[in-house]
Amino acid sequence: MRVFVRLVLARPIFPRSVFAPLAWLLKRLMRIRTFAFVASAALLCLAATGTPGEDFAQRYREYAVAAHHPLASRAGAEILAAGGNAADAAAATMLALGVSTPSSSGLGGGGFALYYRARDRSLTFLDFRERAPGKATPTMFRDAKSDTDGPISSASQIGGLASGVPGEPAGIEDLVRRFGKLPLSKVVEPAARMAEQGVPVSEPIAKVSAAFAAQMKKDATMRKWFAGNANALTPGQLLRQPELAKTIRVLGARGASAIYRGAIAREIVRKSRQRGGILSLRDLARYRLVERRPLSAEHFGHRWVTAPPPSAGGYTLLQSLAILERVPPHQRRRGVALLHALAESWKGPYLDRERYFGDPDHVSLPETKMMAAPRLEARAAIVHPTLAMPPEAYDLPLPVKQRPAKQPDNAGTSHFCVMDAAGNVASVTTTINLPFGARYTAAGMVMNDEMDDFARDVGVANAFGLVGGAPNLPGPDKRPVSTMTPTIVFKGNTPVLCIGAAGGSRIVTATQQVAMNLLLHRMNAKEAVRAPRIHHQAHPNKLRTEEVAPLDNKLVAQLKARGHVHEPLHHAANVQLIHRTRRRGQKPLSAACDPRKGGLPAGN
Ligand code: GLY
Repeated sequence: MRVFVRLVLARPIFPRSVFAPLAWLLKRLMRIRTFAFVASAALLCLAATGTPGEDFAQRYREYAVAAHHPLASRAGAEILAAGGNAADAAAATMLALGVSTPSSSGLGGGGFALYYRARDRSLTFLDFRERAPGKATPTMFRDAKSDTDGPISSASQIGGLASGVPGEPAGIEDLVRRFGKLPLSKVVEPAARMAEQGVPVSEPIAKVSAAFAAQMKKDATMRKWFAGNANALTPGQLLRQPELAKTIRVLGARGASAIYRGAIAREIVRKSRQRGGILSLRDLARYRLVERRPLSAEHFGHRWVTAPPPSAGGYTLLQSLAILERVPPHQRRRGVALLHALAESWKGPYLDRERYFGDPDHVSLPETKMMAAPRLEARAAIVHPTLAMPPEAYDLPLPVKQRPAKQPDNAGTSHFCVMDAAGNVASVTTTINLPFGARYTAAGMVMNDEMDDFARDVGVANAFGLVGGAPNLPGPDKRPVSTMTPTIVFKGNTPVLCIGAAGGSRIVTATQQVAMNLLLHRMNAKEAVRAPRIHHQAHPNKLRTEEVAPLDNKLVAQLKARGHVHEPLHHAANVQLIHRTRRRGQKPLSAACDPRKGGLPAGN
């Protein structure tokens, strides 16, 4: 099946673009607060059409927001300028991402937020991931029928059965009410305005819409997005979402309960059922955000704080770092040695994910045993200095019954970072899973297809080739395993890096490489985020490199000589970050949005 769409331009991403001077001019104009919103949106969109210039990394003195769409960064910065803090700005950015990039995230999805409050140095991890309906069963996808109209069309990927109960409304409310300074009604304003006035369609969204047009047009709201009989959204076309604007304003005025109960809840249930789903009013009314203890460990002179289960991302990050620390230093020297060591370090934790990971509220996860020092020593000892080991050397993989022919180049996920003037930090990853989620809407919200992050059956891989084990089979009120890895890294007591990524199974490997580029290899933010990356997830046993950021041919040849099976991937993931540095004469906050996706940071 020829499924997957190239979201970013086919050519390499790095030439200085003709849009750079426009973006510069725009930044200046944006300081004039009365500058017309629509004009700015159109220009910003030009800068976000997949041909980024050099402005994807910027320095700021007081506060910064780095999101994968320029208008979303801008929405967060607007709320900070209006007296809000990082929590308020995170909520505003999250909402604005749902409006500007409805292919990636939104109120119909869910996510994770890691929040650092400077006042008391507290760290809070909010899990507002989608939850399976009460009628979900372990076998619900085993024999379910597929949609025939286009790509990514199994029952866990499109239509009503694919959707879990959205968690983002609860996440937004919790961030603002517990940690914010502004009323929710004010925080929602930039996104509501964007949805009402319209946002120019960016080139990446236009491209992905071409692959899913037939499926999207089955939904009355999405059908209106396609002008005339177009078979794709057009770059630059103004996308207005009046129903979504209304829902956002209801959230602002009455809080998340107005989405989980009443008319909007009834609409979600109606639309899900119309498309073969099993969501109920009770499922919505019973949705609860969960506060969890983030994972945290010291590695390479820093404290890494990251996502706990139901994400496997944080675990993979920390285990990989622990293994790298245990191999002899010459085996992780930059160049082929480091690339080899990285690939090897990921195989074990990805296999653990298959076998052990599930919703920690429903299955017991032997986390302590999995991270025990003797186990890490044993895994590090398996890393051969010059030979790629088969994944079986690290652990017994689950037998694979079925895997997708090809992994998608991109996903419906979005990561962003906020640092405010008081030192608060928000690292947030939010998702509707695959592009345009389950490809239907309710009350203007694109509904998620997060149920595909469950195992459809033991040994069956999801869209990203992640093989599922029994702990991750669907069940009533269960959350599916995720790779989302919102992370904050500390040097002493100072949060020096906010980072994370979008990109399905590749989220964690991209996050880790960019963080290491910054903290260990002394690259600046621009260099760190655009450097070529690799990916390995044990299953399939392939080492991926990116077409948009090609790895040096000599390095590829050296990796192959070590026995790695090489396979190119269009691009691996997209990373957003804010790095706090102390360099004489430089503004301290360096914010970067991955040029693979075309975002621009904003701040002051
Ligand atoms: N849906 C992407 C993830 O949770 O990893």
